[in-house]
Amino acid sequence: MTQNHQFEVVVVGAGGAGLMAGLYASKTAKTAVISKLYPTRSHTGAAQGGISAALGNLEEDRVEWHTYDSVKGSDYLGDQDSIEFMCQEAPQAILELEHMGLPFDRTPEGKISQRPFGGHTNNVTGKPVRRAAHAADRTGHMILQTLYQQCLKNNVNFYDEFQVLDLLTKDGKACGVVAVELATGELHVFHAKAVIFATGGHGRMWEITSNAYAYTGDGAAITFRRGIPLEDMEFFQFHPTGIYKLGILITEGVRGEGGILINGKGERFMPKYAPTVKDLASRDVISRAIYMEIREGRGVNGSNYIYLDVRPEVVNKFAALDGRTNPDGSPIKVTAEELLHKLPDIVDFNRVYLGIDPMTQPMPIQPTAHYTMGGIPTNRYGQVVVDDQGTIYPGLYAAGEVACVSIHGANRLGTNSLLDLVVFGKYSGLKAAEYAKSADFTPLPNDPTAFASQQFDALRNGDGKENAFDIGRELKKVMFDDVGVFRIEEGMKNALTKLAELRERFKHVRVNDSGKTFNTELLNAWELGNLLELAEVVATCALNRKESRGGHAREDYSKRDDANWLKHTLITRKNGKLEISYKPVVITKYQPKERVY
Ligand code: FUM
Repeated sequence: MTQNHQFEVVVVGAGGAGLMAGLYASKTAKTAVISKLYPTRSHTGAAQGGISAALGNLEEDRVEWHTYDSVKGSDYLGDQDSIEFMCQEAPQAILELEHMGLPFDRTPEGKISQRPFGGHTNNVTGKPVRRAAHAADRTGHMILQTLYQQCLKNNVNFYDEFQVLDLLTKDGKACGVVAVELATGELHVFHAKAVIFATGGHGRMWEITSNAYAYTGDGAAITFRRGIPLEDMEFFQFHPTGIYKLGILITEGVRGEGGILINGKGERFMPKYAPTVKDLASRDVISRAIYMEIREGRGVNGSNYIYLDVRPEVVNKFAALDGRTNPDGSPIKVTAEELLHKLPDIVDFNRVYLGIDPMTQPMPIQPTAHYTMGGIPTNRYGQVVVDDQGTIYPGLYAAGEVACVSIHGANRLGTNSLLDLVVFGKYSGLKAAEYAKSADFTPLPNDPTAFASQQFDALRNGDGKENAFDIGRELKKVMFDDVGVFRIEEGMKNALTKLAELRERFKHVRVNDSGKTFNTELLNAWELGNLLELAEVVATCALNRKESRGGHAREDYSKRDDANWLKHTLITRKNGKLEISYKPVVITKYQPKERVY
């Protein structure tokens, strides 16, 4: 039996963006937040090191520096009007979180503490600046807890452990979603005036990833199937420091606290690649540097990993060599006790997963698939825009990692993701509620659950010749090998051939569990369908872009090519075929120039 609900605003996803959107929409509109997880288990909780804002609490910092660093970090593909907006909003956003109760770490004077992060610089000296406001190495986790409490206080209606399967549209407007209740297997129709997608990314399509199991690109795949384009999907960020083989994130905050990258010969190699900021260059630069070291035979023990070393004596030695000091000018002399206080989860992860104590041993790390810069195209108010003219799709919004505003362009700076979801989560919630107040409910389409049921039926009734787990494993391998940190035409063509084979094989999958209660086999198979859909999109866009920029590094086109490629990619599927078009990058103050770190 299908159950029916009606809300003015429905938010899909309960990570930082979804909670912020739900909180702000609920101030004036009847709002529901639907999530496949219990909200505080959302992937925002994996963001560790901080949230950026030019608060200048420990040393001089400026909104303009944050803006310029983000533009430069984006390899000039970010839209500068939106970046300016986000960086201007940042200090107020952090203070708002503080006033909501977020337990930020403090300076001795009681201000919010800030640490250096990759690509955050003093634009006069070029040296790293302390811009990342943090709560130990659990900043994302604290944001989730804080926002969830605020949503409960504001009577947001939560539908936890409901998987949204389809977006409902009628007459060119969004009018609701269809979801399955995981505990019962029942379908629910949520009729809405406005729908906000805040479902996060799709990093589970790569073999080594920092992403949660839940990160299967559901929102992007659902809207794409309904004809909404995706933007800049070729740009995916590999975080330089994931635990070797496991991919679990080791925060950039480790390097912010003075950690150093060391190759198999015991050499610190980043000064070769980024002479000024060294181990605090942007992520694309460092991930490539690590692979270069490994390729040239300088991995540890000839393997494909290197070390991240945060032992106090190493931190102190290199701080002195680099001339880094405390904000009061005194020499840096950290102790294991201080580092344990600042990085408790990192120390725990290493002890639990590797049996390694980072206070006495270096950590084995390798780049790990981390974050998509691409997603559902939106303007700065979270309104989904479907073409190069900024045409708005009525009633449809997106925020957080699933959206492409675009503030991250070709490469995101660390800690700008948490800022993105707080700022654009808020504005999408406000805008959706404002729209809901002026709009009527669009009638639902006939048989609203038809497409969702059809997708589940296909998985229940396949001939069973293929196994979803095998397909998933092969998908992750080919994406990691051929559409990873470095890309080349031959590899990407190989990936596309393999992906076509996997999509064909997926049609023969049969889910054996016919139960209704928490049928994870069925749900995992459906999620795999989303990853397959998006992997083809990522590989197609990557093959199409014949240049190197940010997170998209081609060995056959190794230079950035502004003359031909300073433009955003839009991709849609028309009559079964993928079609690519473009839209211009918004440039306000900063003309593209060579990036030097
Ligand atoms: O390194 C980190 O703590 C990750 C943060 C981010 O992706 O912004």
